[in-house]
Amino acid sequence: MERLQKAIANAGYTSRRKAEELIKEGKVTVNGTVIDTLGYKVNHNDVIEVEGNPLKKRIIKEYYLLNKPREVICSVADEFGRKCVTELIDTETRIYPVGRLDYDTTGLIILTNDGELANILMHPRHQIKKTYIAKINGILKEEDFKNLRKGILVDDKKVTIDNFKVKKQDKEKTTSLVEVTIHEGRNHIVRRLFENMGYEVLKLNRNKYAFLELGNLKSGEYRLLTEEEVAKLYEYR
Ligand code: URA
Repeated sequence: MERLQKAIANAGYTSRRKAEELIKEGKVTVNGTVIDTLGYKVNHNDVIEVEGNPLKKRIIKEYYLLNKPREVICSVADEFGRKCVTELIDTETRIYPVGRLDYDTTGLIILTNDGELANILMHPRHQIKKTYIAKINGILKEEDFKNLRKGILVDDKKVTIDNFKVKKQDKEKTTSLVEVTIHEGRNHIVRRLFENMGYEVLKLNRNKYAFLELGNLKSGEYRLLTEEEVAKLYEYR
C-alpha cells in the first residue's frame, strides 16, 4: 500500500506536491470514487484516474542474482509441485529466471521481470560466457585436453570451450573438479559434453555469468543487481 499522492508521483504523472493539490481539488478518483482528502492509501490493483486520465502503472524492474540450491526448478510454476526458483525470492512482482539451470545444478542465476534484458542475455548472438565447476567421475587424459581445446561435438554441433582448468583431482576416488567456460545455452550442455567424452557429471555448479560472480552468497541466498551491473548487462545488446 502507498499513499495516493505518492502513487501518482511515482507513476510520473506529476510531482507529489502537485498530486496533493489535484487530490484536494477533487480531480482524482480511485476505482471510480472521488478521493479529495490526503492520506488515502492505494495498492497495485486500484484503478486511479487523475483529471480523467487513467494512471499508467509504471512497471518497476527488478533484478536478482540467486545462488540456486539443488532440487529447485528454474521455472515460475511446476506441475509436479517441485520448488521453483521464484519461490526463493521475496517479491510480489512476477519475475522469472533468465535461462535455466537443471534441477540438480546449483549456482548463479538471474531473475527479473525485464523481458528486454532477458531476451538480450538469452540470445545466442550475444554469446554470454558462463563458468561452471563440474565434478566428474574420472581423471582427464591428454586426449581429453586435446578435445576440449578443439571443441566437443554435441548433437552434431560443436561446443566451443572458451576456457577450462582442472581444479582438483582425486586419484583414489577417480573424480575431478573441472572448471569450464562456455557461451552456449543448449539444455544440459555441460553434462552432455562430458558425457560425449565418456564421463558423468556428478555435481554441477555455475559460479560465473558474464562478469557476475556468486561472491559470498550461500546456497538459497540472493541479492539485487546494482544499477551499474544492469547497465553493463545491457551493453551486450
Ligand atoms: N549445463 C548443464 O548440463 N546443466 C545446467 O544446469 C547448465 C548447463
